[in-house]
Amino acid sequence: MEKIGFGVIGAGIWGESHARIYSTDPSATLVAVCDTVEVKARNIAQKYGAKRWYTSVEKMMKDQEIQAVGIATPDFAHREPFIAACEAGKDILLEKPLATNEDDLQAMKTAYNQSGVRVMVDFHARWNPPLVIAKENIDQGKLGQIISMYYRLNDTIYVPTGMLPWAAKSSILWFLGSHTVDTLRFLSGSEVKRVYSVSRSEVLVKMGIKVPDIYQSILEFENGMIATIENNWIVPNTHPNWNDIKLNILGSKGMINMDLTNNQAFERYLEEKSDHPDILVMPMVHGKPMGFAHESIRDFIQKIRTKEEFIASFEDGFRVSRTVLAIMDSALSRTPVMVNLK
Ligand SMILES: NC(=O)c1ccc[n+]([C@@H]2O[C@H](COP(=O)([O-])OP(=O)(O)OC[C@H]3O[C@@H](n4cnc5c(N)ncnc54)[C@H](O)[C@@H]3O)[C@@H](O)[C@H]2O)c1
Repeated sequence: MEKIGFGVIGAGIWGESHARIYSTDPSATLVAVCDTVEVKARNIAQKYGAKRWYTSVEKMMKDQEIQAVGIATPDFAHREPFIAACEAGKDILLEKPLATNEDDLQAMKTAYNQSGVRVMVDFHARWNPPLVIAKENIDQGKLGQIISMYYRLNDTIYVPTGMLPWAAKSSILWFLGSHTVDTLRFLSGSEVKRVYSVSRSEVLVKMGIKVPDIYQSILEFENGMIATIENNWIVPNTHPNWNDIKLNILGSKGMINMDLTNNQAFERYLEEKSDHPDILVMPMVHGKPMGFAHESIRDFIQKIRTKEEFIASFEDGFRVSRTVLAIMDSALSRTPVMVNLK
């Protein structure tokens, strides 16, 4: 079997997850890694056995051994590598969110439409088993008509202050809110029609990171479902897990509650700390990368091979970005805003 040649663009935290899968999946080979910071590109290339590394996306796009790329540059820096890959005819797994402003969205849509490349946006929650099982229950009608959902998806304050040097150029709405919106679309099979959001900026602004701490938003869907979502970036660092996640799905005949926060199936108490280690997102099992965040990348490889439809498409990414832009507009104007999905 001829292996598909992959390149990774952006050799940071998430680019490494891409490299891990492209270098271990039997259908794939990691050809090269690109980062504007050479030492980062070289380190990940050497760690995962890539043949070469680049500091220029333009040069990488001329590499004929690369058939597809994983793009994991910061949220605000997806446009340039995405358009370059479209123009070079490479298939793309793009990290969420697709884009963080209208200009980038339009430019990326034009490049995508003109290119003929295949694009998946990495909304990896669509591979998270509890969410997939909930969707099956909804689709089978077990909960009756879906009346409402409540979804809270937050990060500890370490994420904007210690993990992401570019947090001020993104926001909790782009970093996690994009997942929140996409998961609700995925579960309900419907689009967001109108939003009303309120935000507060107290803690992060005082620390010099000029983004809101929290958005609380109400979403109205085309099928009549209503949802309340919460996204904050200031959960205390003593929280046993980076994420704080709660989901409630209320139907006319049933209800599902999820606490995906702590993986409380596994609580660890050590002399210096207690925590809840990851068993769901990206654990290593017998030396193999498992978990839904690895599975989405693996699924991209498989679907390039089989030519099946991707589980999360360019259009999903486009609609989520438009919805998040509407939420931000609403939080600024403190009025309800209609979502423009056209
Ligand atoms: N960190 C996470 O938990 C996580 C999870 C899922 C998805 N993501 C998404 O993945 C993307 C990357 O996030 P991250 O946490 O890995 O960020 P990061 O800061 O750790 O890595 C980004 C890397 O991209 C490089 N870079 C920037 N511009 C570039 C360019 N034009 N060409 C090549 N390299 C460039 C930077 O030097 C950096 O090494 C984001 O869109 C983020 O939302 C992150």
